[in-house]
Amino acid sequence: MPTQPSIPTLYPDLQGKVALVTGGSRGIGAATCMALARNGVKVAVNGRDQSAIDTTVGALRAVQPDAMAAPADCADASAVEAMRDRVLAQLGVPDFVVSFAGGGTGRPVPFVQISEADWRSSIDNNLTSTFLTLRAFLPGMIERGTGSIATMASAGGRIAQGAPAAYGAAKAGIIMLTRHLANELGPNGIRVNCVSPSAVLTERTRQSMPEEQQQRMRAAFPLGRLGQPDDVAAATLFLLSSASAWITGVTLDVAGGRVMS
Ligand SMILES: NC(=O)c1ccc[n+]([C@@H]2O[C@H](COP(=O)([O-])OP(=O)(O)OC[C@H]3O[C@@H](n4cnc5c(N)ncnc54)[C@H](OP(=O)(O)O)[C@@H]3O)[C@@H](O)[C@H]2O)c1
Repeated sequence: MPTQPSIPTLYPDLQGKVALVTGGSRGIGAATCMALARNGVKVAVNGRDQSAIDTTVGALRAVQPDAMAAPADCADASAVEAMRDRVLAQLGVPDFVVSFAGGGTGRPVPFVQISEADWRSSIDNNLTSTFLTLRAFLPGMIERGTGSIATMASAGGRIAQGAPAAYGAAKAGIIMLTRHLANELGPNGIRVNCVSPSAVLTERTRQSMPEEQQQRMRAAFPLGRLGQPDDVAAATLFLLSSASAWITGVTLDVAGGRVMS
């Protein structure tokens, strides 16, 4: 029987810290918010859909009363800056920025059939949203001289197959953006790392993958199962915590052995 993730993982150094999680309202981001809250972190939960944000914030407040809603479209610079101002006013400068907002759009199509709208949407929602979020929050973190950042790639940004090319290009861009930032910000006391999951079963992916398809996919994973949101949350907490104090610029494949680098 393949081993399932066990959360919460306890990192005492996280207690009392502040985190912004973009894409925190659902799926992997929501699991990460809950894992942070269980470690005593005050979490600002971002997403676009207010009702999903409210549901997640409500669940977090049962374990950490200082959780807050931070709605914004992260592909919109002025919306991100307004969200940043609300987070700073309510919780202060985040110790952790978890930039997970994004996602794929549909099945792969031949390159010449990629529409400009799909291309721009993938780049905006994944790569540009990461850029805008980090650009907005970094000045405060640099001034304070500490912090840890987690970005979100995908197996689609590691392997040139199985995911739409625009999504893969956006996620590969996030990996290189992570390395640039890690290089630049190390002297400022800020670490920047990336998590790169393969197929993770969220509410959304469960809907798009019938059980027979999940069954077929399992064979591609040496560990014999698809991922759970808590698998990614656990890897993210490790990268945020001081347990990884001498690690920066890495991409951690949370992929059941399907991606090895
Ligand atoms: N699940 C997987 O198999 C898998 C594998 C590899 C990588 N990933 C990556 O992991 C991240 C989370 O994926 P998930 O599967 O957990 O997806 P999900 O359940 O669909 O959640 C996506 C989250 O991102 C938010 N979001 C998307 N675009 C946004 C934007 N422009 N501004 C603000 N929030 C935005 C969504 O908020 P709204 O619903 O309000 O829009 C939601 O909170 C994504 O970056 C995805 O590419 C997922």
